Amino acid sequence: MSNKKYHRVFVDGCFDLCHFGHYNFIRQASQLGDELYAGVHNDEEILKNKGPVVLTLEERIEMIEACKWVTKTVPDSPYNVTTYWLDKYNCDCNVHGDDLALNADGVECHESVRRAGRFETVPRTKAISTTNLIGRILRLSNSELPEELRKDLNTKGYLPSTFLISHFSSLNEPKKTDVIVYCDGTFDMLHPGHVSFLKKAKQMGTYLVVGIHEDKDVISHGKKKPIMNIHERVLNLLALKYVDDVIIGAPYVINEELIQQVVPAIVVEGSNSECVIRDECYEIPKKLG
Ligand code: CTP
Repeated sequence: MSNKKYHRVFVDGCFDLCHFGHYNFIRQASQLGDELYAGVHNDEEILKNKGPVVLTLEERIEMIEACKWVTKTVPDSPYNVTTYWLDKYNCDCNVHGDDLALNADGVECHESVRRAGRFETVPRTKAISTTNLIGRILRLSNSELPEELRKDLNTKGYLPSTFLISHFSSLNEPKKTDVIVYCDGTFDMLHPGHVSFLKKAKQMGTYLVVGIHEDKDVISHGKKKPIMNIHERVLNLLALKYVDDVIIGAPYVINEELIQQVVPAIVVEGSNSECVIRDECYEIPKKLG
């Protein structure tokens, strides 16, 4: 018998440009129940109540489905969640961040479940939001930003804390029988393309280690400075069910030292054209077969 407060909890959201703030919300909510169902609003519902989204419903669902704390995703979840909706999915309770979510009529979206005593909140994660990320992207190309985006932009992003990293980590060491797979990259603004690559990489073995490159290495190899800092990028990866461990500041060129530490059975690279530039980076694993 589990000591969790509920059997199944329900979370809902837009989860646009899904980030570690969303994943940390899901992680906290998952501690309240044995199972967690994640409702994702469709594009029309979000447009009506909040504004346009960047990613489509399918893309947003992929990002939530890949999260290790999610039991099941529920597409087309209504903006105003009701007890009928919770009952339909046998969920005991609805969980939201401790910010107030209002619908297009200015009414709190969770009023009905709150009144029914089936509503809980968890603390919102500071220093990250979809709006903030959109601001960071726009800042790259445009200094004339609207005021509502500018006010959020003095942040350097999430300040690294061991608390979050340790709570996101799988804390599983590879077993002797594990087939270790290694891949590396920048993984900036984690998106469905990354997720699909990591899923395929994991399928080539049983334990996936992902190396994340530092900003200075990314820049010195002719790419743009990442939008998210390395700690934010690490947290995003650790929230995925395919990732077992992350090397923070992995060498851009895979060297003997890395091979000896990680002991991968296989090193994987994506087959997109950009990786051709990185041919030299994979010389050692190629030589080792
Ligand atoms: N959330 C959170 N911490 C953040 C961002 C979101 O806890 N930094 C929570 C919200 O409180 C909500 C859930 O994640 O319960 C889904 O949020 P979403 O509907 O995607 O929209 P926002 O709350 O507007 O989040 P964001 O500003 O990042 O889009």
